[in-house]
Amino acid sequence: MVNVAVLGYGTVGSGVFDVLVKNHDSIAKKIGDDIKVKYVLDLREFPGDPVESVLVHDFDTIINDPEIDIVAEAMGGLDPAYTFAKRTLEAGKNYCTSNKELVAMYGPELLELAKSKGKNFLFEASVGGGIPIIRPLNQSLTADDITEITGILNGTTNFILTKMDKEGLAFEDVLKEAQELGYAEKDPTADVEGYDACRKIAILSSLAYGLHVNFEDIYTEGITKITALDFKYASKLGLSIKLFGKSKKIDGKCYAMVAPFMISTESPLYCVNGVMNGILVNGEVIGDIMFYGSGAGKYPTASAVVADIVDEAKHLNKHIMSLWSSKKLELEDIKSNRCKFFVRVSGDAASRLDAVEEAFGKITPVTLDEVNGEFAFITEVISEADYEAAAQKVDGILQRIRVEA
Ligand code: NDP
Ligand code: HSE
Repeated sequence: MVNVAVLGYGTVGSGVFDVLVKNHDSIAKKIGDDIKVKYVLDLREFPGDPVESVLVHDFDTIINDPEIDIVAEAMGGLDPAYTFAKRTLEAGKNYCTSNKELVAMYGPELLELAKSKGKNFLFEASVGGGIPIIRPLNQSLTADDITEITGILNGTTNFILTKMDKEGLAFEDVLKEAQELGYAEKDPTADVEGYDACRKIAILSSLAYGLHVNFEDIYTEGITKITALDFKYASKLGLSIKLFGKSKKIDGKCYAMVAPFMISTESPLYCVNGVMNGILVNGEVIGDIMFYGSGAGKYPTASAVVADIVDEAKHLNKHIMSLWSSKKLELEDIKSNRCKFFVRVSGDAASRLDAVEEAFGKITPVTLDEVNGEFAFITEVISEADYEAAAQKVDGILQRIRVEA
């Protein structure tokens, strides 16, 4: 018998409990042993809920029970998740989590602790919700040197951008809907300002490149400045706007960033809409490979957590290797990164064109019949540094969005 404790009975934790109960027989078959949820830890009571019979409020009940083999955390935040993770591994139990904040901050330390104990610290649900991406990076793409990752890594922001694009809805209304659907973080600033996608690209890059990418080193922009008018211009250009987490390795140098990009229908990520996430990985041997699925939500995320539980149940006393070392990967400044830029400036084209061309060089103007008092254009492919230098020379820049060339 494999005994599991689930920490947190919110969106994800309740999904994990449901799946382990409902799919008990098929999961036990896959493990080759019986499996039981012995405890669920939460702060609240859940009167009348099936969880009542296993609900506890004190973590010590779990850690002091020698029968508990696996602890699955879905509480979120660093405190007490970090302490609980350490105590679990130190007690010789396996730990898995959907908590990307924890993984991005303490991943290498907890992996090393798990290794030293011959146990596992797994975190499939921390990136891409239900999409298997951590396990493929760790176990399937091992023949390869990964050179680039570009992902739509946050379900909430993709849901918002898609509704703004396709239904013309307002940012705030769609954010509220994403919160009601259980997609958003407790503090949705993490979603809309790009911090969640930043942690996720840091986790993926660390696994792909084998060194620790500190999420705090990654240049990050969110979607709060994207407006309905930007989508009108994008539509005129046949483009869409997506929040990307990107990292790439060129000549041993590594770049990473999170920012909204205008992308064309030719991008494999163009059709990734709503809460779906898409992760495009490029390896020297395999070329392009894409992962697609629900990036957030109760059951998709529970599917990934339960997959970790099953993996740990199959490897109760055997550490599964991962490439992520605690040695830091120094990221390059993104200033040499090159792309086109979509720019909106105040004033009309006739009066601004000369100054804009003098600063940016060759540009392609973009006009919308219904818009007066501003002027939009797309630059040629230039570096971030060149963009910054040109932008200094032009007054009244209202918007700039990178365009995936
Ligand atoms: P919720 O807020 O819905 O659930 C968290 C639960 O944990 C709540 O019931 C909360 O209780 C409880 N909790 C918080 N602190 C403690 C504590 N100290 N002891 C016991 N229980 C505690 O969050 P989610 O389920 O949405 O997310 C959980 C984690 O999974 C987060 O790290 C999130 O980023 C991640 N995640 C979420 C996804 C999603 O789609 N929602 C997808 C992928 C990952 P209370 O409400 O009383 O605070
Ligand atoms: N808030 C996150 C998202 C949850 O919207 O993608 C999944 O990690």
